[in-house]
Formats: sequence, C-alpha cells, structure tokens
Amino acid sequence: MSEAIVIAVDGPAGAGKGELTRRLAEVLDFDLLDSGAIYRVLGYAVRKAGLALFDEDSVVQEAKLLNLSFECMDDGVHVLLNGEDVSKDIRTEEAGNNASKVAAYPSVRQALLQRQREFLKEPGLVADGRDMGTVVFPKAQVKIFLDASAEVRANRRVLQLQSKGKSCDFDSVLQEIKERDVRDRNRPVAPLKPADDALIIDSSDMNIEEVFKMATDYITQKTGLKF
Ligand code: CDP
Repeated sequence: MSEAIVIAVDGPAGAGKGELTRRLAEVLDFDLLDSGAIYRVLGYAVRKAGLALFDEDSVVQEAKLLNLSFECMDDGVHVLLNGEDVSKDIRTEEAGNNASKVAAYPSVRQALLQRQREFLKEPGLVADGRDMGTVVFPKAQVKIFLDASAEVRANRRVLQLQSKGKSCDFDSVLQEIKERDVRDRNRPVAPLKPADDALIIDSSDMNIEEVFKMATDYITQKTGLKF
C-alpha cells in the first residue's frame, strides 16, 4: 500500500489556495496538482477547436484526448497543451469561467478523475481544487477548505491580475466570482463544499502567513510532518 500523503486543499476562487498549496509543496518537497488548470486547459482546448462549451459530447471527447503536461520552470509551473505553452492563456477570467462550465459536466469530471489520481506518488501530493477531499482523494490524510468572503476574494483577484499587468475592475471581477460560486456550488456532481472531515479556514481577515501557520499546525497534528 502506498505511504504517500495527500494534502487536499479545496475552496472557492480567490480564497488563496494557489499561494498556500505552492508554499506547502515547496516546503514539503511534494508534487503539486493544480486541478483547476486541467479544467482551464480543457475549456481553452474546446474553444480553440471551435467546439461549443454547451455541447457535452464534444467536451467529453476533448477531455479524453486532452494532451496536457505540466513543466517546472524557473518562474513556476507552466502548462502545456499539445506541447504549446498556454499558461498565460488559461489564467484569464474568461478562461476561469469557461473552466467552470466544462467542469459542471459529470461525464467530463469522470473522464478526468484517473488522470488526477495518477499525480499521487511518494512522498506525497498537495492537491488544489474544488473536490480534492470529497471525490478525487476521499482518503486524504489532510483536508483543508479555504474560504473567504466574495468581496475579499474579488479584491485579491484584482490585485493578482494587476500585478500581472492586466487591467480589470472590481465590480466585474466580483460579479464573475459570484457567478462561478453559484455554478460550482450547485452542480449535481462534485459540488464545491467542504468534506465532512475538513478543517475550514476562513481567511477573510487573515494574511498568507497566518493561513500558512494554521494549515501547517493542522498538517503536523494529522501527519506528524514538521515545518
Ligand atoms: O484559480 P481559481 O480558484 O479562480 O480557479 P481554478 O482553481 O483554476 O478553477 C477554475 C474552475 O475549474 C473552477 O471555477 C471550477 O469550476 C473548476 N474546478 C473544478 O470543478 N474542480 C476542481 N477540482 C478544480 C477546478
């Protein structure tokens, strides 16, 4: 039996999962699964192929054939589709919205399940997403649900986009986050919700250092891993 440890971090858009999981993976020297990137690439691939996001059969075919890889570079992990670097293309708000549309199809989620599980190897995996602790890795030793108010998350997303030189306005980002929340929380399969055995962290009034400390204390308590 594998001794690999899974740290599942789920939560809505802009809660800070990306920053937390990157740090955890780096400090622990674990692999990182950015499951959202898989749905983002799928949405991008569907649009690029000229297919309709509402056509579930076409989307699932695309999901089964998706030629996706992650590559570690000096400035972080890059995402490749058919060998082409699409990291920048998939980080737009439109790509996030398209991801959330393709991610709502049960058949698409099923098609991508095994691919996500294959990321697990020793010593462990930090998995970032919406259903890491509930569906993909239900036996994860550590489950964290990172949340924050929609306003705080929109604000963080605006700062993040601005730091990448992208112009955006708060109201449209907030509206987009709320729409995505509704779709992610209400879909019939793998809806966004905390696992019964997850630690819920509301980061609305916390900075990343405080979130990191709370998460690492919990990981130590559950696994004995030291930081
Ligand atoms: O970075 P952000 O939290 O905005 O989004 P993301 O993690 O890249 O995920 C983009 C979209 O993919 C989400 O809004 C979800 O609809 C979907 N997703 C999902 O359904 N299941 C996952 N495990 C990860 C993402």
